[in-house]
Amino acid sequence: MRENLSSLFLLDPDVTFLNHGSYGACPRPVFEDYQRWQMKLERQPVAFLDPSRGLTGWMRDGRVAVATEVGASPDDLVGLTNATTGLNIAIQSLDLRPGDEILTTDHEYAALEKTWAYVCRRSGAVVKYVSIPLPLTTEAQFTDALLAGITDRTRVLFLSHITSATALVFPIERAVAEARARGIISVIDGAHTPGHIPLNLDALGADYYAGNCHKWMMAPKGAAFLHVRRELQASLNPLVISHGWTEDANKPGAQGPFGNSGFVDELEVQGTRDPSAWLAVPAAIAFAHQHDWKSVARDCRALAQDTATRVSALTGLPGFCSPEFCAPQMVSMPVTNCDPLLLKQRLLDEFAIEIPCFKWQQHTIVRVSAQGYNTQRDMDHLVAALTVLLPQLSAEG
Ligand SMILES: Cc1ncc(COP(=O)(O)O)c(C=O)c1O
Repeated sequence: MRENLSSLFLLDPDVTFLNHGSYGACPRPVFEDYQRWQMKLERQPVAFLDPSRGLTGWMRDGRVAVATEVGASPDDLVGLTNATTGLNIAIQSLDLRPGDEILTTDHEYAALEKTWAYVCRRSGAVVKYVSIPLPLTTEAQFTDALLAGITDRTRVLFLSHITSATALVFPIERAVAEARARGIISVIDGAHTPGHIPLNLDALGADYYAGNCHKWMMAPKGAAFLHVRRELQASLNPLVISHGWTEDANKPGAQGPFGNSGFVDELEVQGTRDPSAWLAVPAAIAFAHQHDWKSVARDCRALAQDTATRVSALTGLPGFCSPEFCAPQMVSMPVTNCDPLLLKQRLLDEFAIEIPCFKWQQHTIVRVSAQGYNTQRDMDHLVAALTVLLPQLSAEG
């Protein structure tokens, strides 16, 4: 049995924390590294933040560490504060025209649906939603549904790699390859993937891929990356123009003013900010290796799957997918129809359980995350609480 890892985290011991998926949780040694960077910054802000001094090299250290984990070159990704920012840079750089179609699924994250609505309003492009049949049990079921949605107006394919509401791992490989073969741009929302599922971004070949380091890589909040296929890097429009931008920024192979490619300099140098979360990413990666997180994650997967099986037995409702399409450490469990906000509040107030409960389409969902600090006892507590609350709330609803 592995060591109890909860003492390595800063979470409130009075709360059963089953929501790693929303914002992650940072282990103490990683958080201390983050604070060490902040102290260093505050000791000599000018020396620290001047991109022509140490910062450029430290930012690169983060890129090198992340690139190794996600199967990419450090020159093809930039460190940002969150996946939303990375995806906005990609999406708002696209040259969309009236009638262009963005092909996506009915499982996407609401904030990014808004980003698409925004660019569509400005460009006259339209979003086409494909319904992915559930339960998801085969790759073909996913890819065939998507490919059937392609028309001669399809310009962009937008997919979550792990979905937020349903916690599915979408088997995106064939869809991305098909998009490439047909000249369709692929934009992938990998907010939940780094540190969660194996990634090889070079092999995947998506045009734009954004991932968070603050969720499953356990970095401090505010650490993420945007990976862009090299040929497209010069065509990006940063959301903020600052010292990192040059007149030549949109020329392929352009150099930035701080010794990086134009792509890296224009996206990483964007006015005064605290880059400490990104600078602590190497410590987060080292922490995971040091504590053999692959085997921790295997245990967590078993815990999450077992909990889902127990909740399914309790409610009589099947899950959304077969195990291979389930996010390893996060399962969305359909439960008896009830008011999800009330369920969430009562789980917190009466059982001190922090867990997301929400509606998605016609389903009421409880999404359980299992991370190294969770134990069988946490899951038993959740199942016991649901055993009490679900019959009460569904009777009221
Ligand atoms: C699928 C998906 N995309 C994007 C995001 C946004 O992540 P962030 O707020 O870190 O940008 C989330 C957050 O949970 C998500 O689940």
